[in-house]
Amino acid sequence: MNTKTPEAQPIAKKRLDYKAPNFTITDIDLDFDLAPEITTVTARSRVVQKNQQASDLILDGEDLKLISINIDEQPWHDYQITKTGLIIHNVPTEFTLTIVNEIKPINNTALEGLYVSGEALCTQCEAEGFRHITYYLDRPDVLARFSTRITANKQRYPYLLSNGNRIAQGELADGHHWVQWQDPFPKPAYLFALVAGDFDILKDQFITQSKRKVDLEIYVDKGNLDRSHWAMTSLKNAMRWDETRFGLEYDLDIFMIVAVDFFNMGAMENKGLNIFNSKYVLAKPQTATDDDYLGIEGVIGHEYFHNWTGNRVTCRDWFQLSLKEGLTVFRDQEFSADMGSRAVKRIEDVKLLRTVQFAEDASPMSHPIRPEQVIEMNNFYTVTVYEKGAEVIRMMHTLLGEDKFQAGMKLYFKRHDGSAATCDDFVAAMQDASGIDLTQFKLWYSQSGTPELTVTDNYDEKNQQYTLTVEQYTPATQDQNQKQALHIPLDIELYQHDGKVITLQYQGQPIHHVLNLTQSTQQFIFDNVTEKPIISLLRDFSAPVKLTYDYQDNDLIFLMQQATNAFSRYDAAQMLLAKYVRLNVKNYQENQKLALPDSVLDAFRAVLLSENTDPFLIAQILTLPSENELANLFTVVDPIAIHEVRLFLLTQFANELYDELLAVYHHNNTSQYQIKHNDIAKRSLKNCCLTLLAYADDNSRANTLVSQQYHQANNMTDCLAALNVAVKAELDCRTELLVNFDDKWHQDGLVMDKWLALNATSPDKNVLATVKKLLTHRSFTLSNPNRIRALIGAFVNNNPVAFHAKDGSGYQFLVEILTELNQKNPQVAARLIDPLIRLKRYDEKRQQQMRKALEDLLKIENLSKDLFEKISKALEA
Ligand code: TRP
Ligand code: ZN
Repeated sequence: MNTKTPEAQPIAKKRLDYKAPNFTITDIDLDFDLAPEITTVTARSRVVQKNQQASDLILDGEDLKLISINIDEQPWHDYQITKTGLIIHNVPTEFTLTIVNEIKPINNTALEGLYVSGEALCTQCEAEGFRHITYYLDRPDVLARFSTRITANKQRYPYLLSNGNRIAQGELADGHHWVQWQDPFPKPAYLFALVAGDFDILKDQFITQSKRKVDLEIYVDKGNLDRSHWAMTSLKNAMRWDETRFGLEYDLDIFMIVAVDFFNMGAMENKGLNIFNSKYVLAKPQTATDDDYLGIEGVIGHEYFHNWTGNRVTCRDWFQLSLKEGLTVFRDQEFSADMGSRAVKRIEDVKLLRTVQFAEDASPMSHPIRPEQVIEMNNFYTVTVYEKGAEVIRMMHTLLGEDKFQAGMKLYFKRHDGSAATCDDFVAAMQDASGIDLTQFKLWYSQSGTPELTVTDNYDEKNQQYTLTVEQYTPATQDQNQKQALHIPLDIELYQHDGKVITLQYQGQPIHHVLNLTQSTQQFIFDNVTEKPIISLLRDFSAPVKLTYDYQDNDLIFLMQQATNAFSRYDAAQMLLAKYVRLNVKNYQENQKLALPDSVLDAFRAVLLSENTDPFLIAQILTLPSENELANLFTVVDPIAIHEVRLFLLTQFANELYDELLAVYHHNNTSQYQIKHNDIAKRSLKNCCLTLLAYADDNSRANTLVSQQYHQANNMTDCLAALNVAVKAELDCRTELLVNFDDKWHQDGLVMDKWLALNATSPDKNVLATVKKLLTHRSFTLSNPNRIRALIGAFVNNNPVAFHAKDGSGYQFLVEILTELNQKNPQVAARLIDPLIRLKRYDEKRQQQMRKALEDLLKIENLSKDLFEKISKALEA
């Protein structure tokens, strides 16, 4: 019977509807007969009934061609194929299920499941990609022991990789060969991986704490071996760090990393076989910047750390994603902090959170770090789940301290190793191991939105008492109206005007510098305060909140120079700038003159010239916040006003600090290129100075310096910094340099991504025409996610003036791109739409055009669940 029903709208799954699976699979033997056109998959699973009421086995499966089903070696005909899988009726309580099916990797442009990347074949199974490979219980609470046999043409695919240990291999008569892999650790299907191809391999070894030898192998495209060494260094550093800081050792005899060019995200932690976007593996000084090097270190660490936080203990269901991601981001942040500059790492993480996560909280996609409902899971790999999730772990670390936090980790592994856990389980382990009550703290998992702290104070000279009043308030978000008071750690310090730190005390008792906020309004009294103090608030960004306190300029200037916490010095500078950005945006909108007091410029001059400050930190303080970061200062964003005010500030800095910038620029030359933190710091400050110099009213000198630096650079950091400022400050040399770069690098996709992104973020009036023209550039293709993010992602996200052009041309352009990408790669399409769904943040005219664009998109035939979820939320706002 064939009843035609109207196309149903996708429905959301709810966190509270979780039910344990009716069946589980304890073991699976996979057999792949590999070829790009058609791959035959044979899956032999041991299935065990868990719920005696259940007689139908419901398996997930999409885009599969079923060949046969056997139960206990006998053909089975009592089944039904549905749109989302396979229902096998009246199955026994324990049996061997053998399913044969075919897939077509070559047609897989979504890069989910088994697909073709360049000359290789590879998989991506998180979150729900395994169902594109075979019919299975594709949910993270079903853990099975996997063995994988791969057969393929030997010449085309000399390396056949999967999870675990290689236990057998052999040759076949027809030019084919096979390899058999076995992974002793039970795992959910999302951690399955397979790679076939021809590679160069960098090999090394690691001796673990308990003296076990682990083979390390990094697989890269042929010819790229000279770009694989930093990844290996980072891997070994990560393995050592996890042993010393967390006491966690690697558990297999081999650890492999494969770099592929076609990948939707950064990288994937498949057990024993991490697969990486080549962007996060390949680096040599001529092609990669210091930021690329640090990014590789961070992502290599991140995926490696997942081996314990994600793989050994996995997630019960996808609503618990932050259990592994928030925790693993916290771990990779700490790793990077321990390897390099802790202060700068913190500043960069906070910048990302404030710029992107705060914007997400204020958008139709607002959700708690543990989402309540999901239509398409791929839409929830967000800065909220990852970065805010890491902040929530960090707050627990702040509340417990390192020792109790590590005791909590130990207990967590003791209770949950080898199984699938929940966020509640994690907090319970932290609470039980520390004896600290986290009941109210747990609200951070269920409440979305960015809390706002308003701090007022009073100094009582007669009684030498200082009183702090703190209010917390979380504005409603689209997903949630009612908000409760959270448990917020507020780290503070008090200073005398001579710089001396005031000891915190009340009635003779010391008070800890981290205050526990638990109510909507709270007072804190400090005794023996002999003068009106200067307060440093939210040190180290102790909680992911917005802070309001009526600072005087002089207090901020004091904190910029004197705060003991490096983050606080940076943050004071940010608050000072924010004040003048707000003022000047208003001036701009009212056609008034823009202005910046000399005292502010002098404060920045003092930081620039301060000799006992890390140059890396100086560069952070002297780098003006991005237009996107500034946008978060406003409820209604005026992209042009923000752009013009930022330009005004840059020009003021350049004109007024010119000689100092020039001197510091020359002083921080590093002749030889090395990845050492002191050198990275120097280059960062040098290039920060060069950038500012280019905005001086007279930019002829800068034009020469930039051109010289570009041509003389022996490394990509200096080369790209020069090119970047040439484009952004519209220096005369920009056209020549852009052509030179294209000529030199056009065959190198990863390097060209930098060039594409620069073109897309140019302040040039005709930038949209340029971007459209670049869609046919020899280095561009709409089938590679890195290229898409570099050109189109950069334009829609990082060129707000052009994307939000009054005539709606930016929105129209995005509609055209998304119409094409909707079918081709829904994951990438759904990420690109983010700036368009934030329509509520713009004026009426822009809102109308954005809504029109969204309505056009909603009419697309076969609109993906990914885009549907975001568009429908945006339109219901
Ligand atoms: N688990 C991966 C990480 O954070 C994320 C990831 C990689 C991913 N590829 C993906 C998520 C594809 C969704 C889809 O390290
Ligand atoms: Zn991760």
